[in-house]
Amino acid sequence: MCDAFVSPPSLLILKKLPISSCPNRSTKSTIRSKYPIIHASVNQNHSNRWSLHGKTALVTGGTRGIGRAIVEELAGHGVIVHTCARNESELNSCLKGWLDEGFEITGSVCDVSSQRDREKLMDDVSRLFGGKLYILVNNVGTNIRKPMVELTSEEFSTMMSTNFESVFHICQLAHPFLKASRAGSVVFTSSVSAFVSLKSMTLQGATKGAINQLTKNLACEWGKDDIRSNAVAPWYIKTSMVEQVLSNKEYVKEVLHCTPLGRLGNPNEVSSLVAFLCMPASSYITGQIICVDGGMSVNGFYPRHG
Ligand SMILES: NC(=O)c1ccc[n+]([C@@H]2O[C@H](COP(=O)([O-])OP(=O)(O)OC[C@H]3O[C@@H](n4cnc5c(N)ncnc54)[C@H](OP(=O)(O)O)[C@@H]3O)[C@@H](O)[C@H]2O)c1
Repeated sequence: MCDAFVSPPSLLILKKLPISSCPNRSTKSTIRSKYPIIHASVNQNHSNRWSLHGKTALVTGGTRGIGRAIVEELAGHGVIVHTCARNESELNSCLKGWLDEGFEITGSVCDVSSQRDREKLMDDVSRLFGGKLYILVNNVGTNIRKPMVELTSEEFSTMMSTNFESVFHICQLAHPFLKASRAGSVVFTSSVSAFVSLKSMTLQGATKGAINQLTKNLACEWGKDDIRSNAVAPWYIKTSMVEQVLSNKEYVKEVLHCTPLGRLGNPNEVSSLVAFLCMPASSYITGQIICVDGGMSVNGFYPRHG
C-alpha cells in the first residue's frame, strides 16, 4: 500500500515514491487540491531550507577572486553583506558597481593582519548589523612560494598573521554576534595544500592545515551556541593570486595532468559551495573541510599516456 495517501502528514514522503508503485495513481495536482495547506507548507519549508534571504554576512577579502565571487553569490541570495580589503579605491569601485546592480553590500578598508584593523572591522560589523551576524567567511589568505629553508622570519610572520592569526582573532571577535543570530555559520577558505604536499608551499600548507583543525575544533566548541563551522579547500582557481604562476604554460600542463576534470576552477565554483554551507539545507553539516579541486586531491597514479 502507498503510505503517502493514508494521511496528510505523510505527504512529504510522496516525492520519493515512484507513482507506479502506488495502487492509487493520483497525480501531484490531485494532492495539491486535496491537501492545499500541507502542500503550501511543504513548499514553504522547501524554500526556507534553500534561502539566505535577509541574513547578514561578513566576507573578508571580497574585492577580487574567490572572495568577490562569495560576496556576489551571497548577495544574490538576498544576504546583506559587509566585506573588506586593503586597497580603498578598488573597494570603492566594487561597492559602487554592486550598488548599481542593486546589491546591499558595504565595506571597510582593513588589513586583516593588523589587530587594530580587525577590531575596527568588527566594530563596523556590529554597528551595521545590530550585533547579529549569521555568516562569517574567513576568506583572506596569501602565499609566498619558496623552499622552506629560504623563508625569512619576516615572511614567516606575514604568512602567519595574514593566514592564521587574523582568522583566529576574527573568529574570537565575531563569536558573540554569531551566537546572537542563533544560527551562525563560519566558513573558512582553506586549500588542497592542507591535504597534499605542493611544491614551495610548505608554510602556506601549514597555515591552511591550522585552519582545518580550527574548523573542526570550532564545530565542537561552538555547536552548543548553534554555530556551525566548515571549510572549503580549493585547488587552482583562476584569480589574481595565481595569475603569474598560471602564465607559465608548461606549469599549467602539469597542473591539468594531475586534475581529473582536466581544467582549472572558477571562483563561482567555490562560492556556490560556500552559499550551500551557510543555508539551512546544510544545517547538520559541521566540522567538514570540502575540497573544490576537480578531483586533484584524490588522484593517485595515472600515467600521462595511460
Ligand atoms: N586562487 C587559488 O587558486 C586558491 C587556491 C587555494 C586556496 N585559495 C585561497 O583562497 C583565498 C582567496 O584567494 P584568491 O585567489 O581569491 O586571492 P586574490 O585573487 O588575491 O584576492 C584576495 C582578496 O583578499 C584581499 N586581501 C588580501 N590580503 C588582505 C589583507 N591582508 N587584508 C584584507 N584583505 C586582503 C584582496 O584585496 P586587497 O589586495 O585590496 O587587500 C582581495 O580582495 C585565500 O585564502 C587563498 O589562500 C586560493
